[in-house]
Amino acid sequence: MIVITSPTSMIGRQVLENLLGSGEPARVIARDPSRLPPHILERVEVVQGSHSDPNAVNQAFADADSVFWLVPPDPHAESVEAAYVDFTRPACDAIKSRGVQRVVGISALGRGTAVASNAGLVTASLAMDDLITSTGVSYRALTMPSFMDNILRQAEPIKNQGMFFGPIAGDRKLPACATRDIAATAAKLLLDPDWSGQDHVAVLGPEDLSFNDMAQVMSEVLGKPVRYQQIPFEAYKARFIELDMSEAMAQGMTDMAAAKNEGLDNAEPRSPENTTPTSFRQWCEEVLKPAVFT
Ligand SMILES: NC(=O)c1ccc[n+]([C@@H]2O[C@H](COP(=O)([O-])OP(=O)(O)OC[C@H]3O[C@@H](n4cnc5c(N)ncnc54)[C@H](OP(=O)(O)O)[C@@H]3O)[C@@H](O)[C@H]2O)c1
Repeated sequence: MIVITSPTSMIGRQVLENLLGSGEPARVIARDPSRLPPHILERVEVVQGSHSDPNAVNQAFADADSVFWLVPPDPHAESVEAAYVDFTRPACDAIKSRGVQRVVGISALGRGTAVASNAGLVTASLAMDDLITSTGVSYRALTMPSFMDNILRQAEPIKNQGMFFGPIAGDRKLPACATRDIAATAAKLLLDPDWSGQDHVAVLGPEDLSFNDMAQVMSEVLGKPVRYQQIPFEAYKARFIELDMSEAMAQGMTDMAAAKNEGLDNAEPRSPENTTPTSFRQWCEEVLKPAVFT
């Protein structure tokens, strides 16, 4: 039995699609199961609730071999630790009491870098990994750079102004990965009963690109000029506050971006295993272009 948390998330729903063909029984924890598509609902067991709730995880983890763990963004959290580490505590108790064998978790790049201790949401994600590891369960932390899919949040300025914005220097080359590749990596690990121990698996995408490089690719794929505009970190944080994010989470997002600007995502050596296939150009053609032109 494989348990999937956050089954309606961008990554979780693609993990489920990958697993359904396998014949392995799956169980989801969902706050509102009606948000799952009918073809999924008819093939999975459902535990209704949040995976931060001890009752939900205790029920869901009974006889589970593997768990896919994804902490949802919490824009109103009082601290980044509350959002990631406290959210994960009930699950860690249930992992131990229910004897879960393997966990595959969504985490982030940066462990061991000089900036990892002040990297906001990433620092908290790494602390979450430590908490899961402390249960003794066999664990693979999937460690990611920023997702290509984040750019979808800027589909409107890309469409209307031919611009997208961020606080990171336009010429800093960074890895970026597509959520479809994260989901494929997670599903492969969830279906494989033969690994044990505790480690990380990076998902780096096929190449390092700067935001200026991405603007060039977007211009070519969308057939219109697109430009990246760097903005001050203070303006980046102020935008999150305007959007009703808590002070702590807005600061956490800003600290994370500042750490990425200082090399947080550049320390993981590339290998054939962590170089995943979806290129930024392919992602723009298949995901961004339809989103911009609808
Ligand atoms: N974006 C990046 O560049 C990046 C990079 C590295 C790591 N990450 C990590 O990736 C994760 C986000 O993944 P994603 O983008 O696939 O997520 P997502 O699409 O934002 O989905 C989050 C899901 O969580 C559910 N949810 C929200 N609040 C909840 C709660 N209190 N209890 C239970 N479920 C709740 C929501 O579903 P319902 O409303 O249907 O319940 C939603 O579908 C985060 O842990 C983040 O730190 C992100």
